[in-house]
Amino acid sequence: MTFRSLFGALAMAACAVTGHALIAERALAQDDAAKGIEQYRKMMQDDPFANPGLLYVDAGEALWKEKRGTKNVSLEGCDMGKGPGVLEGAFAELPRYFADADKVMDAESRVIWCMENLQGLDTKPIIKGAFSKRGKGGSEMEFLASYIGSLSNGMKLKPQLSHPKEKQAYELGEALFYMRAGPHDFSCETCHGVSGTRIRLQDLPDLHKAGVDAQKAIPTWPAYRVSTESVKTMQHRMADCYRQMRMPKVGFGSDAVTALITFLAKQAEGGEINVPALKR
Ligand code: HEC
Repeated sequence: MTFRSLFGALAMAACAVTGHALIAERALAQDDAAKGIEQYRKMMQDDPFANPGLLYVDAGEALWKEKRGTKNVSLEGCDMGKGPGVLEGAFAELPRYFADADKVMDAESRVIWCMENLQGLDTKPIIKGAFSKRGKGGSEMEFLASYIGSLSNGMKLKPQLSHPKEKQAYELGEALFYMRAGPHDFSCETCHGVSGTRIRLQDLPDLHKAGVDAQKAIPTWPAYRVSTESVKTMQHRMADCYRQMRMPKVGFGSDAVTALITFLAKQAEGGEINVPALKR
């Protein structure tokens, strides 16, 4: 071996070692940060009054009970699946088929249906403002979804798949989950197909198989997002992931989004509801 090639080989080996050390260091730094966030989350959760999402629950309750619309009634007569006005445990069984609308609906699209049909409210502005902007203090949908969800806290997610339309929604949701499209040719599975990955500091749950990842992720929306200082709902989560895929905007409460949520709920069956949870 000439001196030059020996030197080259040694230099390469040294680079490989420092390179690995750098990668390892970065991974450790990420782990530390992730642990920090986990600890912060735990501290907030240990103090039930530290979660700002609880203000949304209170605002949602007030809104639920307020007489509004052309019919001047409250939402207390709204059937969320367990009979008019019954909210305890209703969220745990959504999305489900509603005979009056002849449709499968998730919590948010059902509330819109009740606003229109029960209260006679013009829901266009409510849908338009459904995803609140930072610092705006929340939207009606965020308040109501938080309130309705919170009344299933501690219960297990129990998706309904007995009605043919519920099965149809599940199958459509499954197909959409694996459908690759958009300029990056991404599907949901591209980012949510393996456990233990992360984008920036956010853990990416493996949602392509039923089990613990999905059970932790799905029944914890709506969630208070520390990064956006507001509660975000499941409709927003779906719209935002489609945005990350650079896909065209999905409609609020559209059948496609309901189908995806139906599929995800089945993946997360048995997961405990904790709403609004606290997330990054
Ligand atoms: C380009 C990667 C990417 C794709 C593709 C993607 N997501 Fe996501 N998803 C994320 C990221 C990143 C987060 C974490 C949210 C954040 O902090 O911004 C996330 C979060 C989520 C969550 C909440 C997880 C939790 O822990 O609470 C759900 C549910 C979800 N995505 C579902 C979907 C579905 C359904 C699709 C397909 C329509 C999809 N995602 C496509 C990147 C992606």
